[in-house]
Amino acid sequence: MITVESVSKNFNGKPAVDHISFQAHDQEILVLLGTSGCGKTTTLKMINRLIEADSGDILIDGKNIGDQKAEELRMGIGFVMQHSGLFPHYTIKQNIAVVPGLLKWDKKKTENRTEELLHKLHLSEDVLSRFPDELSGGQQQRVGIARALIANTPVLLMDEPFGALDNITKADIHSEFKSLEELKNKTTILVTHDVQEAFELGHRICLMDKGKIIQTGTPKEMLYRPQNNFVSDFFAENRLLLEYKIATLKEVGPFLNSENTPGEFGFTENTSVWNALQKLSSDHRNTGYYEDLIKAFNEYRKLQIV
Ligand SMILES: Nc1ncnc2c1ncn2[C@@H]1O[C@H](COP(=O)(O)OP(=O)(O)O)[C@@H](O)[C@H]1O
Ligand SMILES: [Mg+2]
Repeated sequence: MITVESVSKNFNGKPAVDHISFQAHDQEILVLLGTSGCGKTTTLKMINRLIEADSGDILIDGKNIGDQKAEELRMGIGFVMQHSGLFPHYTIKQNIAVVPGLLKWDKKKTENRTEELLHKLHLSEDVLSRFPDELSGGQQQRVGIARALIANTPVLLMDEPFGALDNITKADIHSEFKSLEELKNKTTILVTHDVQEAFELGHRICLMDKGKIIQTGTPKEMLYRPQNNFVSDFFAENRLLLEYKIATLKEVGPFLNSENTPGEFGFTENTSVWNALQKLSSDHRNTGYYEDLIKAFNEYRKLQIV
């Protein structure tokens, strides 16, 4: 668990991060969401002491990070930098092997783990001999993620890790990323300015503005229990889409008229209404379930909005 307690950071007398507090739990993906300049990167970098906080406390599993050597602290943290952060004069293989080198892994162990991660992140092995500028932005970001995952650290910090991907690749990587077994034993903090990404990946979201946290909560709480107008305005543009994405078949089930069960179409109770509708729209067996699902969703959402 990561605990951030009333942490502040000024640059040239101006507050970049202003008395923020939050907790990221074990096995959770916590998203720091906000527009450019609101203090997300500064917050993330204070957690691995790339930036030292001016005041406040940061604890990982109850231990104050200020009481440890920065190098030791960072051995327990996988970090994905905003623009991949790969070393330009190292090949991809060398980039991925930096931390295993520090940990004195033998060659075979490093190679096996590298191969495993390339496979999981859909990178072909022929990238290994290339230099970062010989890869697309999306490939570089995936190498950055592989590098951060390699030592299986208990904490993972990711700064706009999917920012350079196009929307189609992003959607694929999102669903794969979320189901990575590797994340199940970690505490992950992910920074993004992308509202849809925050909703797709975040178990909880901290919405930030001007160095402060405006609200922390589940995606559902953000939409249906906004603490003020800033929060509701922030999500207004994508609101209906976001609602479709967070509603599950289980939640709308009681409002369904049809006899169809989610299993018939390969869905589970946790499938989102959005994903179900997308699949149903191209399924010839769709016998009124699609329309029924939309009706049920509308009934359900009426009860959520207070
Ligand atoms: N090293 C720095 N020196 C001076 N100002 C900085 C520095 N890093 C960040 N800032 C300022 O702090 C604020 C927050 O920046 P940052 O944390 O990078 O925001 P975000 O990641 O949300 O876009 C911005 O106003 C930015 O200009
Ligand atoms: Mg940033």
